[in-house]
Amino acid sequence: MTTASTTLPGGTWNLGDRTVTRFGYGAMQLAGPWVMGPPADRDGAIAVLREAVAQGVTHIDTSDAYGPRVTNELIREALHPYPGSVLIATKVGANRDAEGGWPTARTPEDLRKQVHENLESLGAERLDLVNMRMGDANGPQPGSIAEAMETLAGLQQEGLIGQLGVSNVTAEQVAEARTVTSIVCVQNMYNLANRWDDHLIDSLAADNIAYVPFFPLGGFTPLQADALTAVATRLEATQMAVALAWLLQRSENILLIPGTSKVAHLRENITGASLSLTAQDVAELDNINS
Ligand SMILES: NC(=O)c1ccc[n+]([C@@H]2O[C@H](COP(=O)([O-])OP(=O)(O)OC[C@H]3O[C@@H](n4cnc5c(N)ncnc54)[C@H](OP(=O)(O)O)[C@@H]3O)[C@@H](O)[C@H]2O)c1
Repeated sequence: MTTASTTLPGGTWNLGDRTVTRFGYGAMQLAGPWVMGPPADRDGAIAVLREAVAQGVTHIDTSDAYGPRVTNELIREALHPYPGSVLIATKVGANRDAEGGWPTARTPEDLRKQVHENLESLGAERLDLVNMRMGDANGPQPGSIAEAMETLAGLQQEGLIGQLGVSNVTAEQVAEARTVTSIVCVQNMYNLANRWDDHLIDSLAADNIAYVPFFPLGGFTPLQADALTAVATRLEATQMAVALAWLLQRSENILLIPGTSKVAHLRENITGASLSLTAQDVAELDNINS
């Protein structure tokens, strides 16, 4: 499949030796309700993935735990054989149980198994980027990440993984991971209304490490704030556009992976993220968290 030469908002970022568009796509919402089972609209899900690549997106975020296996298999069906420009980032560290829970699974054996499962469901010989996901539904939790990173670095040495990142982590875990091996990104929850990683983002930027906010639009609960409504109304833009444009302007090392199950929303978000915010707009939006 061919990719477009369209210039997406935000330009590009170098993730290690790979260049990706800062406007990426998060595939989690393609699975069924609460990220379990097949999508309500399978053809629509395939269409969204193909449209993302046709629009020039070269960073797609997934996990074999989405569905489970559902999202990876959709990506394979929609995009395989993968264009060389497209980087697929997956994550390991949790399984799914029958109730839809996300039980932790991060022993060396668990991680090796998950890497092989991702290779199989994506139909890949090597995973472009693997994020070690710590924490749980309540966010990052304290605890050592060293053994997990040693295991993944070993699998990288074997040629099964291109690059490594970490997800749902504390700043201490980021620092500990970096004592074990090189990482190219940190993927944590962050958006206009949830800014506890502000300091971490700035320190990663100084070290040329990407920060990939998950739930950029609020995730399962859309972002709501008076200042967001006010700025969006004044700019005659959607709240999603303002939220994405704010992230792109917040720091060069921020890579977007907004999720959607609809082609129309994907197109809207691409157009919306190119919105230019003035210093006054940004100051009003910054107050949301103060
Ligand atoms: N590392 C982790 O632990 C972790 C955790 C969660 C997520 N993630 C990753 O982060 C990605 C992004 O998170 P997310 O997808 O859950 O949340 P999100 O991007 O904040 O929001 C997605 C939601 O916004 C809606 N939406 C998107 N564009 C819209 C538009 N233009 N108009 C109206 N509604 C719109 C989507 O609904 P429609 O489908 O109707 O468009 C969907 O319900 C995920 O896809 C996943 O890859 C990682």
